[in-house]
Amino acid sequence: MTQAKHLPSQLKQVAKRPRSEDGTPTSLKRQKVEHSPSAGILSVPLAATKLQQGEVVAFPTETVFGLGADATNDAAVAKIFRAKGRPSDNPLIVHVASIDQITFVEEISDTAQKLAQKFWPGPLSIVFKHRSGICDKVRAGLDTVAVRIPAHPVALELLKAANVPVSAPSANISGKPSPTCTQHVLDDLANRGISGVVDGACCEVGVESTVVKLTGNKVTILRPGKVTKQMLETVVGTGNVHLDAHLKTEDETPLAPGMKYRHYAPEVPLLCVEGSDEFFRDTVLEGLKTHKLVGVMYTSENEHKKEFERDDRILALNLGSRNDVAALCQNLFSCLRSLDQSKVTQIFSETVPAEGLGFAFMNRLLKAASNQIVTE
Ligand code: TXA
Ligand code: MG
Repeated sequence: MTQAKHLPSQLKQVAKRPRSEDGTPTSLKRQKVEHSPSAGILSVPLAATKLQQGEVVAFPTETVFGLGADATNDAAVAKIFRAKGRPSDNPLIVHVASIDQITFVEEISDTAQKLAQKFWPGPLSIVFKHRSGICDKVRAGLDTVAVRIPAHPVALELLKAANVPVSAPSANISGKPSPTCTQHVLDDLANRGISGVVDGACCEVGVESTVVKLTGNKVTILRPGKVTKQMLETVVGTGNVHLDAHLKTEDETPLAPGMKYRHYAPEVPLLCVEGSDEFFRDTVLEGLKTHKLVGVMYTSENEHKKEFERDDRILALNLGSRNDVAALCQNLFSCLRSLDQSKVTQIFSETVPAEGLGFAFMNRLLKAASNQIVTE
């Protein structure tokens, strides 16, 4: 197969995705960054100083890379919205290094304390009633503020050194797939007024944090993520965790303003395919009647993967194993970005059952596909 002739350098890395002994795809270890350090790689101390000076810097977290600014500095936060081209009605998550830094909310309830104890530092954002201190732009004018303590050691080091609450959306151009490697950030934002990026290995989780709102002992999931409904139930009890209505039906307006936007999307149309391996292959072959080159995101167990890999008209990327949805999440945005940089004119992706972590995976995949799905 002559796949390489169509492949940008990054895609080759993703396509091969060799695994190290511990099973981690080696591409998730540190990738070589193509830009020179002068194009904006920052050390943690310098990035912390930049944050204190009202500049914006990108940094790795365990979910995706964030684009940070001092959440108490209106002018600094405005730079985030400008760099990303983000709608101003979409609030940002505030990142802190420890729970005692959360001095800007009305109350940290018992339920919030319990969730924090179990899941922080980690991929959970909790919406609190705002008291004072976090600027209006971060909250998009709401009287609430979403807060997270990330688990990534570099993020924690940076937050400690900066010693200010840091508002940080994903470090991508609004609407694009979130960045899970340093190179993704540079591809999107290198020339958009950011001070630079703190380099780091590719993100372990790969999809953004779970966002929850609390009412007494009840938890509402506004955005699904690595911390699943079942995991939250272990803290607040079965029956006390609900999905925001928009996650159950498309007709409802989401409580997290960001969830209403088209998101995570490649430029190239993406179709999700639900059914047997046979049906998946037939759908791809059908697509090849109208497209010269298509992208295929398949799982390791797919019975036809060798055919995809051999076919010159197909750029086939292995998302990982069906039995390891965490790996699928890790790889999703990276695969979408790689295919978007190639010459394919249509992408097909396998799907997984929307259960457990599969719910977060399918939420992002379907958004990237603008809900385009065919079922056997
Ligand atoms: O994993 C993550 O959460 C990453 C990393 C960088 O921490 N950040 C991230 O931020 O995904 P962003 O801006 O791409 O998504 C934030 C989501 C949006 O859907 C937004 O609407 C919601 O959180 N959100 C923020 N503040 C909120 C609030 N006060 N009430 C309801 N939803 C809120
Ligand atoms: Mg985002």
